[in-house]
Formats: sequence, structure tokens, C-alpha cells
Amino acid sequence: MAIGQNFMWGGASSAFQVEGARDEDGRGLSLMDLRASSRNHKQMDTEVSVDQYHHLQEDIGLMKELGVQSYRFSISWSRVFPTGHTDKPNKKGIQYYHDLIDGLKKVGIKPVVTMFHFDFPKALYDEYAGWNSRRAIDDFVAYGKFLIDEYGKDVAHWLTVNEQGVIVLDSELLGIDPKQDKQVKFQKAYQANLYLWIAQAKLYKYCHEKYPESLIGPAISYITTIPYDGTSEDVAAAKELEDFYSFAQMEVAIKGTIPQYFTRQLLNIGINIEVTKEDSEVLKQGTANFLGLNWYCTTIVKHKPNYFEDEFIFNRIERKQKPTLRYTDWGWNDDPTGLYYGLRQVMDRYPDIPLMITECGWSEKEKLVDGKVHDDDRIRYLKGHVEALQNARKDGVNVFSFNVWSMFDLLSVGDGMEKRYGLIYVDRTDFDEKTLKRYPKDSYYWYQNFIREYQNKS
Ligand code: BG6
Repeated sequence: MAIGQNFMWGGASSAFQVEGARDEDGRGLSLMDLRASSRNHKQMDTEVSVDQYHHLQEDIGLMKELGVQSYRFSISWSRVFPTGHTDKPNKKGIQYYHDLIDGLKKVGIKPVVTMFHFDFPKALYDEYAGWNSRRAIDDFVAYGKFLIDEYGKDVAHWLTVNEQGVIVLDSELLGIDPKQDKQVKFQKAYQANLYLWIAQAKLYKYCHEKYPESLIGPAISYITTIPYDGTSEDVAAAKELEDFYSFAQMEVAIKGTIPQYFTRQLLNIGINIEVTKEDSEVLKQGTANFLGLNWYCTTIVKHKPNYFEDEFIFNRIERKQKPTLRYTDWGWNDDPTGLYYGLRQVMDRYPDIPLMITECGWSEKEKLVDGKVHDDDRIRYLKGHVEALQNARKDGVNVFSFNVWSMFDLLSVGDGMEKRYGLIYVDRTDFDEKTLKRYPKDSYYWYQNFIREYQNKS
């Protein structure tokens, strides 16, 4: 694809982070709702969130004005199937996503749909402990097949699971008690990791058979990992961490085999994953035909003195900051060359696989002043990253879409409304729903102008 042709500039969100209407129209609860209610007061308020459910047409209108070509969102499994099982569909939930997809289509925006973005149905968790059981595979596959059958004629880009690497490390997302013994936690989490891989392989295969033209793959948390200094030990540590955390996920999706370096890493800490012959066959038979990459910043690592001991990679490194880079209040850097370098690395490994940036963004604590938000730091971040992406394309990287995280202010997974990512400000705080009115920030107008100029040039 030549530069400029059919490129999709867009924005992204996920269901529990924007929808609200937690208890409306028959929706069932998810594990994210429980996590939310375990926090203080209304921080992480999934009950209302930023209320996209009731602002749908207005929000689509704002995206149309912005001029984007894609909107990445996720479907809430428990809105469509409150019990998690496909034999009890929720008509209103199914209709909501038809309205969203149709609304986008009408204004020329392509839907990019995530099937599972952290929000596992509570009912299935109560029944059999969710991803901690093999039973989750069949339920996720049934749900995913339903989505492909129901929406597949209007959706050409499917993302199966969002950031499996994060799900496995944040055991709360798997419903595993974070206070449990580390060894038990890891054993469970990495076994669940296998079940997630198997379920996705089955869905890749199904989708290729049913819609051979469609693209389906995972949204990977890709953290380009950089050595702190020029020592071979730091270079090796950076490689090992990046391979274990990001590339192992890509390898399984694209090649259908679990890399030895991944298994060895787990064996080092006494974790042995049960993979049957049949599991290996399923992984081989169903592979992704594209990759979504959630890319925010680089991680800069320094090896610890025990580098060559048989220890988990996370314990053998320390994360460092570089004074030459800008950082958000949460310590995420602005390092666009890291994106360029990361994309080049992915191209080297998978030259034939199309890539989509499914998330990329800058967080701030922000206040509305006279109806405006002057988010210059976000503009600077975005400028740098779209430039890095275009440079990667000039070098032959087949990346065909860039989706800003996030289109609207939303509930940050770690920090609720305090940590804002949006191009569009939403008038609410952690503890006060306020008016929920939408206000385009300066970055919205910057992006609008950037997209227009890009289209005029191409
Ligand atoms: C990604 C997730 O991990 O990072 C998003 O896919 C999340 O859901 C984003 O919002 C930023 O993380 P946080 O914790 O700042 O919201």
C-alpha cells in the first residue's frame, strides 16, 4: 500500500471506560465493575463512566467533525450476554452495538472492534472462576463467533483480546486475589494465558473461514524496551524483557507456536504450563492475519548484578528514566523514536503482517477553563508519534492505521478520571458526575487539521 492510500487515522476507547449504563437495559456485571466498586467512593465509576451509552449520536457527530476514518471500541460481553452464556442473549445490548456500528458507517468511519477488553462477565467468574478454568475457552469462542456472525458484514477489523500481557500480570483482571502467594498467582495466571491463546486461535480460524477478507488479531501491549547504557548486559536485559512481555504474544498469534524463551523464563521460577498435544495443534491451525499494537512509551532498563541467575526477568532489571525525555505525571515518557524503532523491529519479524496502532496517547491532569483545554503537551506528543509512524512507513513498514488513545476522556484503568487521555474533554471528575458535557480540546483541532492536510497531500 503506498503512503497516503487508505490510511485510517482514528481514535480508541473501551466499553467499561466510556459506556456507563452499567445496570441498564439488562446488562450483567463484569469483573471491571467489581474492581471499580472496591475503590474509594466513585473513582473508577463504571456505573456512569463518561456515559457514551446515552451520548452515542452526539459522540459520533464529534468524531465525524474531527474527520477520523476509524473508531476502535470494545463490546461489553456482559451487555450482550448478561450470564456470559450465548444461550441467553440480551436484545437491547446487541442492538446498542448495531446502532454504534451503523452510526459510524453512516458518517464514513470504520469500526475496529475489540471482543474482550479486560471486562470478563462476573456470572461466569462466579460459575467457574473465569479464565482460571479451561471452560472459559468454549464460552469465549461461542461469544466471539456470535459477534462475527452478527456484526461481521459491517466489521472488517477485529481485535480478539486487549493486552493479554497486562491481563496476566494484573491478576485482579483474572479474578485472582492479588494478596495470594506469588508462585500460586503466577502459576494460575500463565495457565490462563494459555487458555486465552487457545480461544483466540479458534476465533482466528473461524473468522478466516467465514470472512476471508477480514483482518483479525490481538491488541498487543507493545513496550519497546531500550537498554539504559551501552553495556551488553543492559542490551541483553532489554531484549529478554521485550521478548517475554511483548514478542511472545506476537509469536503465538502469528506463528502459532510458544517460543522456547518464554517457557524457559517460566520454568526458571518453577512454573510449568500444561500444554496438551491438542492445544499445540489448535494454536498452529489458527493464526492472526494482522496485529494491533498498543504503544505508549519506551521502557528503559538496567540489569541488576544477579543478571545471569535463574530468576524471573522482571526481578533482574530495574526501570530507569532518562533526563533528556519528557515524562507524564505517571512516569510514561515521550519517546517517538521508540515507536519508529519498534515498528521496524516488528516488520523484521513479520514482514507480511499488516499493523495497526490500536492505542497511543498522552495523559494529563486537566481542568476546563472557559470551555477550553490547552493541551500543548499532548499535541507535542502526537506530532512526534505520527511523524515517527510516517517515517516507519517510508521505510516499508506496513502500518495502515493510527488510533489515538483516547477519543474521549475516559476512566483510566489505573487512575480513574484524574488521568485524562482524551482529544475531547468530558465534564466530570472522579467523585462528581457534573454535566458530562463534551468539549473538544486544542489537540482535537490539531488532529482535525492534521488529517485534513494529510488527505489534501495524498
Ligand atoms: C492500556 C489499556 O493498557 O493502557 C487501556 O488498553 C488503558 O484500557 C491504557 O486505559 C492506559 O492505561 P491507564 O492505566 O493509564 O488507563
